Amino acid sequence: MRRPYIAGNWKMNMTPSKGAAFAAELAKAVKEAGVDCKIMIAPPFVTIPAVVEAVKGSNIIVAAQNMNDHTSGAYTGEVAPDMLKDLGVTTVILGHSERRSYYGESNEFINKKVKLALAEKMEVVLCVGETLEEREAGKLESVLSSQIVDGLKDVAAEEMKAITIAYEPVWAIGTGKTATPEDADAAHAFIRSVVKKMFNSDIAENLIIQYGGSVNASNAKALMAKENIDGALVGGASLSVEKFLPVLTFNK
Ligand code: 13P
Repeated sequence: MRRPYIAGNWKMNMTPSKGAAFAAELAKAVKEAGVDCKIMIAPPFVTIPAVVEAVKGSNIIVAAQNMNDHTSGAYTGEVAPDMLKDLGVTTVILGHSERRSYYGESNEFINKKVKLALAEKMEVVLCVGETLEEREAGKLESVLSSQIVDGLKDVAAEEMKAITIAYEPVWAIGTGKTATPEDADAAHAFIRSVVKKMFNSDIAENLIIQYGGSVNASNAKALMAKENIDGALVGGASLSVEKFLPVLTFNK
């Protein structure tokens, strides 16, 4: 049985003070509701310390949305893994489509970060997903396949327990358009088959695959009911307790 893993990617929202107040409110609500899935929130870098403090004693994991591909040095404006770990952050989202499209991150570059995160004993949520153009051109499987094969290049089988994959079709992010549960499940099954080919069936069966793209209170349950959908990576609907709690309690 794969344990549901639901995450909130705050993107470039929430100042430290707003983030801390919201995270404290969320931690309280999660406890009261008896949420039993694995929960993660990923604030912007500068908001992380206040949020870590605010959720202390709760079962909410605080993650980063990105990190640099080096351990230290002359990389102005960047954040290294040990800076995150010093704050108690041991999970990082890598390869988000906004990083790929706005900041030109390639599969090869993302792979460098994946390997560094694993070497630093961090957990990774690796995001993959096709654009509408790619989907309409029949390239869904080839795009996903190279994002996974290249993104996980040289990752050892025993490191795969630290990897979660998030399938986020680019056309569904922030658009209000969700993939149908059937389409999402088919993409997840394909992702699992790629991982099986790269590693083995045990690793593929245990891999947590989150769906992301306009997940909200009204579609979470139907998505999560699908065999291959093990969690969600939520953007807009993770920014208030009112919207995020119903996603976290999809099974209640
Ligand atoms: P939305 O839920 O706002 O569509 O964002 C999804 C996402 O990109 C999460 O990483």
